[in-house]
Amino acid sequence: MKIIRTSVELNHWFNEHNIENIKSLGFVPTMGALHNGHASLIEKASEECDLVIVSILVNPTQFNEKDDLDNYPREMAADAVIANAAGCHVIFAPTAEDLYGGEPKAEHMDWGCLTNSFEGKSRKGHFDGVIAVVDKLFSAIKPNQAYFGAKDLQQVAVVQKMARLKHPNIEIVSCDLIRDSKGLALSSRNIRLSDQGITRALKLSSALFNVATNTLAGKSVKTAVDAARKELQSSEGIDLEYFNGVNNQTFSHEDEPSEWSHIVVAAKVEGVRLIDNIEIEVVG
Ligand code: PAJ
Repeated sequence: MKIIRTSVELNHWFNEHNIENIKSLGFVPTMGALHNGHASLIEKASEECDLVIVSILVNPTQFNEKDDLDNYPREMAADAVIANAAGCHVIFAPTAEDLYGGEPKAEHMDWGCLTNSFEGKSRKGHFDGVIAVVDKLFSAIKPNQAYFGAKDLQQVAVVQKMARLKHPNIEIVSCDLIRDSKGLALSSRNIRLSDQGITRALKLSSALFNVATNTLAGKSVKTAVDAARKELQSSEGIDLEYFNGVNNQTFSHEDEPSEWSHIVVAAKVEGVRLIDNIEIEVVG
């Protein structure tokens, strides 16, 4: 596995390896601090593609809190081991300045609820930064397929729209959300939680599982969501931002419960912002 640090070096590597002869190039964008969630994306790409490139860049334009950006874990040596074991051929880890060709900046994008609700509302400018960096990475790498995790459900829909508009030849592949054995959604931020924080964080996934089970059993999804939200709001150590039903294409607050495809949650535990979601089947 090769580690490439600049866009110029990436182009040299492409020329040396006759990139035009490669039938399928799979790309997995990440911000590093890799765990089994990321590894599952890399493994899927490696099953489906001849060449797999993983990018590692803590993208400054998508962080709306300086503390979060400063505290984001950076562990290249450990990342290289995980990426290699999962089937990555090349890690592309440029600096933000190299990728952006100067000071990292993101243009504001207004795609209605898709960019303004939920994650877009809680983290102002977040999707502007995601769109900017993924657009630049797609232009640099020109993959056939790009792999994204359903952990960041709204990001998948935002990237799909960006790809339709600017990179119509790139297929966006949505991959399953990976949890630990207790149900906690894997996240690079989880290492900042104490044991008590993890116990509290587990209430988020439990609430999602409860709603999904009740809904499957034919109970009203709206009632189940309202009850779970109320319980989380009064749980000690959980600072709940939202717990809602959404349609994974629109992310509109206006959608009827019958149109909901997922329940999404965001909360802070010990100052660490966590998100999770679950697919639901609304009966009848
Ligand atoms: P990052 O948080 O590092 O995540 C990289 C990819 O791994 C994303 O597609 C994310 O959804 C996926 N992922 C993270 N945890 C996962 C889990 N538990 N199960 C399945 N997939 C998981 O998302 C980003 O970085 C950035 O916004 C990025 C797209 C790289 C742009 O900077």
